[in-house]
Amino acid sequence: MTDPLALEPVLAPDERARPLFHDPDLTHEERYEAFVQHVHSGLKVEATDWMPDEYRQNVLRFVEMHANSELMGVLPERDWIMRAPTLKRKLALTAKIQDEVGHAQLLYRVAEDLGKPREQMITDLIDGKTKFHNVFHYPTKSWGDVGIIAWLVDAAAIVAQQALRESSYGPYSRTMKKICWEESVHIMHGRDVVVTLVNGTDNQRAMVQEALDRWWGPLMQMHGPRSPREKDRDLFWRIKAKTSEELRQEFLTIYVPRLLELGLVIPDPELRFDDAAGEWRYTEPDWDELRRVVTGHGPMSQERLAFRRLNYDETAWVRSTVLAVPVAPAA
Ligand SMILES: [Fe+2]
Ligand SMILES: [Fe+2]
Repeated sequence: MTDPLALEPVLAPDERARPLFHDPDLTHEERYEAFVQHVHSGLKVEATDWMPDEYRQNVLRFVEMHANSELMGVLPERDWIMRAPTLKRKLALTAKIQDEVGHAQLLYRVAEDLGKPREQMITDLIDGKTKFHNVFHYPTKSWGDVGIIAWLVDAAAIVAQQALRESSYGPYSRTMKKICWEESVHIMHGRDVVVTLVNGTDNQRAMVQEALDRWWGPLMQMHGPRSPREKDRDLFWRIKAKTSEELRQEFLTIYVPRLLELGLVIPDPELRFDDAAGEWRYTEPDWDELRRVVTGHGPMSQERLAFRRLNYDETAWVRSTVLAVPVAPAA
């Protein structure tokens, strides 16, 4: 599906007003200052622009982690394609998985323009040198998980991704507009699976509640621990716009009422909205679990990386064929 906003024309380098930081007569410090001013005024940075090393590295790390998460995120759902209960569900799940792999492709393209070859990004991922989101290190045990992942994991992700549409890095912000459009369809698919289950038999209702009980902890960890706004360099460079806690609060504000409306029980006795403070209170997420999981020690981390390695090896012939240097036919 195409988001009309994603079709905004991108100006060619010679059509854009030349940003001040391109002036080769400036000292490095003057260029750096002009770049900071540019970003802080809400203007975009393009792939061909001069940029400070720290900015390049931070955007690359951020986008690469996002791309890795899209690619690894399909594995928990992939397990359920053959077990989908109806043809309609199988088609919807397959389409979602194709979308997610497409997101990974788009994001690796954005990341490789910043100087890291795609091949290197894939080998760093399968060697465990780079990370992917905590939620994709867990097993999927029932069809209820398919609904909870597509609805709530995608919802927690879209809360963050919507804010990334305003990222200072132009190629990333434009890519996020297209991705958010597709993610909103994934959420509708996930909610439909969950609504169907809660309106089904007692067993189906119990299945979705049990899935929510297992996923709530990882969901609350997903945006990461609180960190002071002034110390966050990704916020300084306007690569992202919101802190971890702002994203978690936004997720709770939107989705707690929707879960309760379906009669589901949120497995946190401490969860409540504090009217005086104007924010949600909740049991402190298990940050040690988050650290363990994202460093490759989650219940499915090694199995999923092993699958990616196998897949990478088995598709080596495709890459070598596509990338082969054409040989001129003999005269
Ligand atoms: Fe996605
Ligand atoms: Fe998605």
